[in-house]
Amino acid sequence: MKRCYLIGYPVEHSMSPAMHNAAFKALGLDAEYSLAPVEPGRLGAFIEKLREGDVLGANVTIPHKVEVMRHLDQVDETANAIGAVNTIVKRDGRLTGYNTDATGGVKALTEECGGLNGRNVTILGAGGASRAITYQVSRVDCRVTVLNRSVEKARKLVDKLRPTASAQLLYGGLDQLPGVIVDTDVLINSTPVGMSPKTSDSPVPEELLHGGLFVFDVIYNPIKTKLLEDAEAKGAGTLSGVKMLVYQGAEAFRMWTGVEPSVDLMQRVVEKNLGG
Ligand SMILES: NC(=O)c1ccc[n+]([C@@H]2O[C@H](COP(=O)([O-])OP(=O)(O)OC[C@H]3O[C@@H](n4cnc5c(N)ncnc54)[C@H](OP(=O)(O)O)[C@@H]3O)[C@@H](O)[C@H]2O)c1
Repeated sequence: MKRCYLIGYPVEHSMSPAMHNAAFKALGLDAEYSLAPVEPGRLGAFIEKLREGDVLGANVTIPHKVEVMRHLDQVDETANAIGAVNTIVKRDGRLTGYNTDATGGVKALTEECGGLNGRNVTILGAGGASRAITYQVSRVDCRVTVLNRSVEKARKLVDKLRPTASAQLLYGGLDQLPGVIVDTDVLINSTPVGMSPKTSDSPVPEELLHGGLFVFDVIYNPIKTKLLEDAEAKGAGTLSGVKMLVYQGAEAFRMWTGVEPSVDLMQRVVEKNLGG
């Protein structure tokens, strides 16, 4: 039997085993995806174990996405530019790191919002999810403004991406949102504000939202955050983090197996697990 793992600490609440195992089963593949709780300090030893046996690869989550890079044989261009790996693929015994949060997240967004070319995109947050999404959006000819609680972190992110970006990149503090949101076409929340259990919080005051927006919240629990509810009430288009979760998983699946999984099935499994 072939094996895949989710390496993180803690990992118990992940949707990934249900999502991947359903896709393996539907395709009749003799493979299993399991949780690998790996304490910080034991990561190197676990990565070495991936080199043995019938392992296809792994996903990597908090707190190992950055640290894991130095244990791999190779890191692809996107993951390198972001400075984080969420997927490891084993080929001929060699381990390569990728970042499918970036590619999967922006693929989901692009499909739903009608394209990013020439649009004004505002991204709230400058942490791990933002780094992945901002990098991928910066490949497109558009205007991106990153607003973060700590302005210094937004500045660092933008400064790092500017030399290779196709997009015009700006940054600022969250206090600039009232001015910036007026001209925003696509608003992305990549902060955890509104995530379960604090579901009555929103990173955007209701009165700032308008019908000209497309709002993407990377949070998937709950599926419909207060931000998305408020945006919908104003007539804005919306997208939850579920599709990003499914697409990052589907891309990893494709790289591990060479086979296209059913994203509809994966999405149904995630929504069922989230009670949606
Ligand atoms: N859908 C998916 O597939 C997917 C994938 C990855 C992550 N996510 C979700 O994305 C969210 C962020 O995860 P992450 O890994 O990027 O976290 P992170 O690295 O800790 O970054 C969090 C960011 O949010 C900001 N922030 C935190 N609390 C805030 C508050 N109360 N008010 C304003 N800003 C605040 C932080 O600002 P400072 O820099 O000022 O601290 C930081 O920029 C989580 O909800 C996670 O579940 C979803």
